[in-house]
Amino acid sequence: MSTSEHPPTVLLGITGCIAAYKACELVRLLKKAGQRVKVVMTPAACEFVTPTTLRTLSEEPVALDPVDDPAAPIHHISLAQEADVLVIAPATANTLNKLAAGVADNLLTTTALACAAPLIVAPAMNTHMWRDEATQTALAVLRQRGAVLIEPETGELACGDVGEGRLAAVEQIAEAVLAELRRSRDLVGRRILVTAGPTREYIDPVRFISNPSSGITGFAVAEEAARRGAEVILVSGPVTLPDPFGCTVIRVESAEQMLAAAELHFHGLDAAVFTAAVADFRPAERATQKLKKTAGTPVLELVRNPDILTTLAGRPAGTSGANGAGAADAADAAGASGATSATSASAVGQRPYIVGFAAETEDVELHAREKLAAKGAHLIVANDVSAPGLGFASNQNSWLFVSAEASEPTGVQPKRTLANLLLDRIVQSLC
Ligand code: C5P
Repeated sequence: MSTSEHPPTVLLGITGCIAAYKACELVRLLKKAGQRVKVVMTPAACEFVTPTTLRTLSEEPVALDPVDDPAAPIHHISLAQEADVLVIAPATANTLNKLAAGVADNLLTTTALACAAPLIVAPAMNTHMWRDEATQTALAVLRQRGAVLIEPETGELACGDVGEGRLAAVEQIAEAVLAELRRSRDLVGRRILVTAGPTREYIDPVRFISNPSSGITGFAVAEEAARRGAEVILVSGPVTLPDPFGCTVIRVESAEQMLAAAELHFHGLDAAVFTAAVADFRPAERATQKLKKTAGTPVLELVRNPDILTTLAGRPAGTSGANGAGAADAADAAGASGATSATSASAVGQRPYIVGFAAETEDVELHAREKLAAKGAHLIVANDVSAPGLGFASNQNSWLFVSAEASEPTGVQPKRTLANLLLDRIVQSLC
């Protein structure tokens, strides 16, 4: 990732294929566009183009096997961390299949496995290798994980065959890399709150009301926002996911705790994204001891939980807490609780951009539009939870963005890609 010490970095992986020479032109184009380019080559790539050529063009040392060298201990990790985008061009069938399977047997594949930056692959190979089921399955797996695929062109191949498999134009690859880099810093100076996961509403010390929300969507939004430079506060109910990189994470259990944490960190926000599947009801009373079944069947009285989104949607970002404390008080409170200082561009008194979610089983757009008005959100992300293979337990989903102006479907996408589409909209609205 880029830091104050160095600019955004393109990590270019080159694999062993006749099109490897075109990577030289790609380095030249990216350098001309003002980017820092670091090259990592597989051993086979060095048979087609020399590291010296790439070192000269990139003006950086070229990373080569063995995986770790004495000058760069844990080289695959330092390379992975430096990358703002990893582009593999040309990408052979061999490397694509390894990436899909998580094989890490050379410096490039090991770095790729350790790399959290967006991955762009530009395949180049013989038509039959391209069409092979193994290659197509690997590509589907990579796409499903959010990788950007730059389709090869059709034409005459080095082996004499005619068909798909020729590396896409280097200008097209460079443009995809630059687009990804533009995205990579477009939330710098922005402060975003995300709620995620389910809540637990305790009946007694060992029993609770909850739902199967995995938190994947909220965590993906939080992690991608942090990667794009935002200061992110993630308030999450109980999930098994690890803390996303670069976010302040506050773990809570109940809806009331989630509201309190969200209120405490509401100051100076540019946007708030409410992905949490908050329980609508909680037991009116929580028994202090485990309820005994020998004591008969209990009758549960439920009361409504606060609606976190609705409670906060009308509130200016310059204030925090139910007591209406000012921004400075709130910032002190946040500092005391370990949150980083606000770097937001949002003016005190302005509402942050509010995004709510709507899981529907029918009339998705109609219900989302009703929710938009009822909750005071700027955008509702609606999805049909009855669609097979999508939603709660899946890594992909299909959303409908519903705002006052329009309704726009995303089509089926990996959740990480959806997170970025949502962040694109937030960026647009903040401009
Ligand atoms: O009303 P419904 O639960 O369908 O609304 C879903 C949206 O409202 C989600 O964005 C969810 O995070 C938010 N919500 C909330 N607090 C609640 C219930 C829902 O923030 N108590």
